[in-house]
Amino acid sequence: MDWGIKNRLSRIIKSDGRTVMLAVDHGYFLGPIKKLEQPCKTIAPLISYTDALMLTRGVLRTSVDPANDIPIVLRVSGGNSIIGKDLSNEAITVSIEDALRLNVCAVALSVYVGSEHEHQTLINLTKLIDEATRYGIPVLAVTAVGKELEKRDARYLALSCRIAAELGAHFVKTYYCEDFEKVVKSCFVPLVIAGGPKLKTELDALSLAYEAINEGASGVDMGRNIWQSENPVAMIKVIRAIVHEGTSLTKAQAMFKSLKSKKKSKK
Ligand code: R5P
Repeated sequence: MDWGIKNRLSRIIKSDGRTVMLAVDHGYFLGPIKKLEQPCKTIAPLISYTDALMLTRGVLRTSVDPANDIPIVLRVSGGNSIIGKDLSNEAITVSIEDALRLNVCAVALSVYVGSEHEHQTLINLTKLIDEATRYGIPVLAVTAVGKELEKRDARYLALSCRIAAELGAHFVKTYYCEDFEKVVKSCFVPLVIAGGPKLKTELDALSLAYEAINEGASGVDMGRNIWQSENPVAMIKVIRAIVHEGTSLTKAQAMFKSLKSKKKSKK
């Protein structure tokens, strides 16, 4: 691997081999979803607990202070919306020149294995890898499922992650699922997990992060289960403890409850 790629990756995935990425890129197809109406307000309290920010260039240019040295993972695929016909109909939406201009640490693109536009999204990935590698920029492949959430099983995700790694993605983002170890084993590059739509409780989300790390994920790239929580700072602090300090689930859940009650008593 080239020095530039290794250097950029090491800014995202820390020396312990782990990362806590904060995903705030949802607006590229979901629009102004709850708690992300004003991205700068969502990002500001969380940025200092984050190893890398995943976002679009629109949010980056308007909502993140350029003096901040947070590593940026730039979403560079899109071209669809939640009300459109087919979420898988994506293209590359940012030139490599603009990604360089923005001094990003990695670029991210979704692949939709098994969808109508499977071929198109996989070729998008290979084109992006060729371009980005030329400039020493790592590529994060996101194994998207679109509206078909039931696709999130180990067989499907192992297939998607393996294909992304085989095509040259430097790291892969996927979902946690039952038998997640099978997904990890199938993929020879680091895997991070998305949180998906907000779960019933924060304790469920912490459990998801814990299980994923315990079963071999290199970290998380979570969004809604952090910033749609009533206690987003407490959430990200506890997720950091799980990812970087190996905190047990019981301790993590207790830590969350304690941070939450401290916040209440301050009010
Ligand atoms: C969705 O496609 C976006 O790429 C998000 O970055 C991703 O889903 C992670 O965010 P969340 O944890 O909210 O699922």
